[in-house]
Amino acid sequence: MLKIRAAITGVHGYVPEYILTNEELSRMVDTTDEWIMERIGIKERHILREKNLGSSYMGALAVEGLLKKTNTKAEDVDLLICATVTPDMQFPATANLISDKVGIRNAFSFDLNAGCSGFLYALNTAAKYIESGSHKKVIVVGSDKMSSIVDYTDRAVCPIFGDGAGAILLEPTTEDCGVMDSILRSDGVGAVHLHQKAGGSVNPASHETVDAREHFVYQEGQTVFKWAVSKMADISLEIMTKHQLTSETLQWLVPHQANMRIIDATSRRMGITNEKVMINIEKYGNTTAATLPLCLWEWESKLKKGDNLILVAFGAGFTWGATYIKWAYNSN
Ligand code: UT7
Repeated sequence: MLKIRAAITGVHGYVPEYILTNEELSRMVDTTDEWIMERIGIKERHILREKNLGSSYMGALAVEGLLKKTNTKAEDVDLLICATVTPDMQFPATANLISDKVGIRNAFSFDLNAGCSGFLYALNTAAKYIESGSHKKVIVVGSDKMSSIVDYTDRAVCPIFGDGAGAILLEPTTEDCGVMDSILRSDGVGAVHLHQKAGGSVNPASHETVDAREHFVYQEGQTVFKWAVSKMADISLEIMTKHQLTSETLQWLVPHQANMRIIDATSRRMGITNEKVMINIEKYGNTTAATLPLCLWEWESKLKKGDNLILVAFGAGFTWGATYIKWAYNSN
């Protein structure tokens, strides 16, 4: 029997209009464009400033565009997974809200939280539903409004993050393409180094937690940096070696966009030159679950059927992983 794989058959993205530049940030905290460019590599990030709009708003716009460009009817979608660390609210799931907004009604949908690795975890979960033969049209959306949990008085964190959403459609194929393999890992030892202290069941919201600014991202930058460099490089090399991919046979590296120095260290370890690396951190910053689909969206017109891609991410948890994809279509 022919093996069924999950092929990405479309990709779309959305970023809010407002652009927060390094120049504007340097008027908010003690920082400079030079420092941010040298240490992180971000020039600007998009911010969803309008009141009463959250991750489901951006996610729904990405999904709406995806349905349109792939000529997919909302009623034909049978599963939607949303990766996010900034859900509209604790419950219901942002995936339910997105589905409602775009008219997906013959499906089930749920959220998945794996920090900045959320999109990779969701992609692989979705792929299993396709591979099993039980589901035919599955949407994975990564959407994060990081500005809702960033402390704009903390100069060590506020330059890093931006808002955005990206979505892909997965469909079955019996051709030799699609999601070929994945290695995913997590280690809760990382929780102390990167987390949101309050707002969960251990530390519910109170006047004290708000006064102590505990609803914002807490990050020990240097520790997270060291883990990210070593895990992203190791796991990319592991999946490359497992599939006998070389710097010649690999067409694209799609790395999570957290820090230009982490991306450089990963591609150097893999022996990949910058022309083969999708990099848009300079204009979007770290959009958490949205970085990978936003890269695919931006590079879609350059991708060719049969191209070998490695997607790699690292994030809160700690979580990390790499996925090997053989691209399934030529866009025109
Ligand atoms: O996607 C989720 C995973 N997250 C990540 O991958 C992030 C990983 N970490 C990083 O990207 C980096 O650690 C940061 C960008 C967060 C920080 O860069 P760093 O090179 O590790 O800086 P540092 O924390 O070691 O700080 C060096 C200096 C400090 O000053 P002193 O103590 O040497 O005087 C900081 O106070 O830089 C100072 N600093 C800043 N200076 C100007 C920290 N933030 C800023 C800033 N502007 N925005």
